[in-house]
Amino acid sequence: MTPSIIWFIGLSGSGKTTLSNALFEKLKHNYPSALIKKLDGDLLRNGLNNNLGFSLEDRNENIRRSAEVAKLFYETGFVVLASFITPTHQNQKLITDIFEKKVFKVFIDCPLETCEKRDVKGLYKKARAGEIKEFTGISSPFEKPLPNQVDVIIDSSKLTINESIELILEKIKQKQDL
Ligand code: ADX
Repeated sequence: MTPSIIWFIGLSGSGKTTLSNALFEKLKHNYPSALIKKLDGDLLRNGLNNNLGFSLEDRNENIRRSAEVAKLFYETGFVVLASFITPTHQNQKLITDIFEKKVFKVFIDCPLETCEKRDVKGLYKKARAGEIKEFTGISSPFEKPLPNQVDVIIDSSKLTINESIELILEKIKQKQDL
C-alpha cells in the first residue's frame, strides 16, 4: 500500500467514521506493516483546533489545519484516513488545493433524513431544538461535492459496509494505475 490520503466527506451520521474504521481494519489485515493514521473532526477539535467553532470561516480554518496535519503524516509515509464533514465547496476545493492529486476523495452521499434518523450522537435532536447553532444540514449549509470533484460517491443508505469498502479499494487501485 503506497502512502496516500483518503478524505471522507459527508454529513454528521452519514457513516464517515464507520467506513474509516472498516477500511482501517481491512488495510491492517491486507498490509500488516503499513502505517495508518485516522483523523477526524472530533479528535482535532479536541486539541489543535479547540479555538474554532462552526462558522463558515472557522470550518475553513479547521479543514485547512486538519489537512496540513494529514499532509505531515502522509509525508512521513502514512496512509491517512481523514473524516471531516467538509461541508462547503470552498472547503472541498481547499482539500484539492492542499493535496493536489495525492488525495482520494470519498463523498458519502447519505440523505439528511437517514442521518437524522440514525442520530448516533443525539446532535440532530439538539440542533432541531435550537440547542446547537449552525448545525450542518439543519442550520448551516452542506453543499454536495460535484461528481467530478470526488473520486467515488458512496450511498451509505444503500450499500453495505463491505460493499462500500470494496468499491473504495477498487477505485483507489484504478486511480493508482492511471
Ligand atoms: S467541519 O464542518 O469543520 O468539517 P468537523 O468534521 O470538523 O466539521 O466536525 C464535525 C463534528 O463536530 C460532528 O461530527 C459533531 O460531532 C461535532 N459538532 C458539534 N457542533 C456541530 C455543528 N454545529 N455542526 C456540525 N458538527 C458539529
